[in-house]
Amino acid sequence: MTNDTNVTWHEHQVSRTLRETMKGHKGCVIWFTGLSGSGKSTLANTLDHKLHQMGIHSAVLDGDNVRHALNAGPGMLKGTHGDAFAERFGLGFTAMDREENIRRIGAVAHLFSQAGLIALTAFISPYREDRDRVRRTMDAGEFIEIFVDTPLEICESRDPKGLYKKARAGEIKNFTGIDDPYEAPSAPELVLRAGEKSPEILVEEIVAYLGSQGIIG
Ligand code: ADX
Repeated sequence: MTNDTNVTWHEHQVSRTLRETMKGHKGCVIWFTGLSGSGKSTLANTLDHKLHQMGIHSAVLDGDNVRHALNAGPGMLKGTHGDAFAERFGLGFTAMDREENIRRIGAVAHLFSQAGLIALTAFISPYREDRDRVRRTMDAGEFIEIFVDTPLEICESRDPKGLYKKARAGEIKNFTGIDDPYEAPSAPELVLRAGEKSPEILVEEIVAYLGSQGIIG
């Protein structure tokens, strides 16, 4: 096994400032957190579209998609090392697996941000400490936490994937909001009530926030 004390950090020659100057805006991470069905992915994609129209470089990392590849579950992993590999590196929904899911996404989103992109992440990320740990890896102002504050009753009534129904029936265990916790952020940069306002209106609030912080001009 590699001794990680023998791994050295290299500074890149093209600095973050040079990349940001070329793009005309700063890089950052916009971290949407909230229950399944709260509207995180819709907001991230609507914002992505809006930023693209404004000539701003952004990219979306979304829980349901990322869990098909980088953070695939054990059943989806087929490697040279078989079941042992799948069990060790595949991710499910235990507290430990969610911690690793968020750690990996935090690291990827940070790389995007350092490359001058506005990274939009849409993960339940139910544990406050997991989100705060990601925040601590970044510069002040780089991690923008947005609480998509949609009540459980609304998320459950939307139930776009039929998962709440299955969770209530006991067919899915550890489902966030049903038999697994969701810890709301204590000091998010923004709180959006996605059960009351349209995604287009909420995205305007985010764009205004990015302007007020000097991230976009
Ligand atoms: S997180 O908790 O680790 O941040 P993530 O956002 O990646 O979760 O994935 C959540 C998505 O996985 C949900 O939108 C839902 O479609 C699906 N899912 C499957 N099982 C569960 C579960 N036990 N709890 C929450 N979401 C689940």
